[in-house]
Amino acid sequence: MAELDKPRPKSFGDKLLDLGDSQNKLEMPCSLDTESNSFIGGKYYVLRVDDTWQPAEVLQTRANDSGEQEFYVHYEGLDRRLDEWVSAERVDFESKAPAVHRKDSISTYNDIIDKTDRKITRNQKRKHDEINHIQKAYADMDPTTAELEKEHEAITKVKYIDRIQIGKYEIDTWYFSPYPEEYGKVPKLWICEYCLKYMQLEKTFRYHQGHCEHRQPLGNEIYRYGSISVYEVESSEHKLYCQNLCLLAKLFLDHKTLYFDVEPFLFYVLTEVDRHGAHIVGYFSKEKESPEGNNLACIMILPPYQRKGYGRFLIAFSYELSKFEGVLGSPEKPLSDLGKLSYRSYWSYVLLNILRETRGSLSIKEMTQRTSITHNDVVTTLQSLNMVKYWKGQHVVCVTSKAIEDLMKDGLFKDPVLSVDPEYLRWTPKRKALVSSKK
Ligand code: ACO
Ligand code: ZN
Repeated sequence: MAELDKPRPKSFGDKLLDLGDSQNKLEMPCSLDTESNSFIGGKYYVLRVDDTWQPAEVLQTRANDSGEQEFYVHYEGLDRRLDEWVSAERVDFESKAPAVHRKDSISTYNDIIDKTDRKITRNQKRKHDEINHIQKAYADMDPTTAELEKEHEAITKVKYIDRIQIGKYEIDTWYFSPYPEEYGKVPKLWICEYCLKYMQLEKTFRYHQGHCEHRQPLGNEIYRYGSISVYEVESSEHKLYCQNLCLLAKLFLDHKTLYFDVEPFLFYVLTEVDRHGAHIVGYFSKEKESPEGNNLACIMILPPYQRKGYGRFLIAFSYELSKFEGVLGSPEKPLSDLGKLSYRSYWSYVLLNILRETRGSLSIKEMTQRTSITHNDVVTTLQSLNMVKYWKGQHVVCVTSKAIEDLMKDGLFKDPVLSVDPEYLRWTPKRKALVSSKK
């Protein structure tokens, strides 16, 4: 493929490690403000951006630049990425929560059941919860998970960095990320879209933009088609870049907690290329060796690029790599709400496509071999599509062309906006094939 042979901007090499000592020493930020505050822990109705009053807990307070008090709130039952700093006007301190607020603002799952006559299945409930980002309650978790979850929430309770500037985008952040203290508490962090160096001040960022010699991610370009390029980054060669990538990703990922020990992983960075350079869109990481058979550890698409098909592109890419390696693979668990939606959409599409094209019978094993999707993921996907029956101790796929047509009408069978063409992959697997096709 001629395109890959085009000259590329100069490579970073190990120079990145000279960026300054502070970026090599990654520490957890110090404890939260110790000043006691009677509002912390209080539960009030808070006005959300969608103009609804929702019950929320105050997790922290601070004075903003003008000296006004702000409150960091978590909305009951909603994903933590919706936690935010709000001004006092948006908190109803008087409210002993008139029921009308709740009724107006939140439709609970039971409300939905009440309003509809149809029987709602477990799968439909799961999908509803995922799309509406409903958080699982501690009571629904096993005791160990609940304890770990509480600890995780205590450590990552408050997100101090509200926004980042990366390339041309200013982006609202979703979660806490353990940038070092002096960087971790600024409302806005400035990040170089090429080397991922982070800066507190706009003027440092502007200076850096003028002097940064990189115009693409570090590592090797292993795929290029049209304006899309994917780079493979070897973490032992570009440790700081990979750590910076994980810190950036953590701003949009709640549970993945890998930031410093990056060496067991390879990183695949997706970019959109124009005449200025290769702009980071998202990435996924992958263990160099995974005894569990994971072909993807973390995936993240930057918010301005979300819902445009890039996530599904990277998921497809991870399976293309597994096909090259001749193994089956699955994403590391737990999946986030958005991760589940994206995987379910990819798996359903791939499997329905194969079923649609196949004349005669097709075993689950054949489906796994053709797609590199594990047996378990094939079965759960087909189950969610109501296509599997358990018969005489075995899973049996029951599907008619009418069932496929119906699903297509439901919009579940969308062709990808962006697809991976394996012809354009220039890659030699580094990973040993530990996982056999038995899984
Ligand atoms: N609401 C409803 N459905 C959604 C949403 C959403 N906000 N986002 C994605 N989906 C579903 C849709 O079915 C979509 O297909 P469709 O719109 O064509 O029906 C499908 O997921 C895939 O959409 P993409 O546009 O390909 O996905 P995107 O580029 O938005 O990336 C990703 C998905 C990577 C999960 C992104 O949302 C993200 O970075 N989220 C934050 C980080 C995260 O949660 N990562 C996954 C963690 S799990 C893990 O790492 C193993
Ligand atoms: Zn840079």
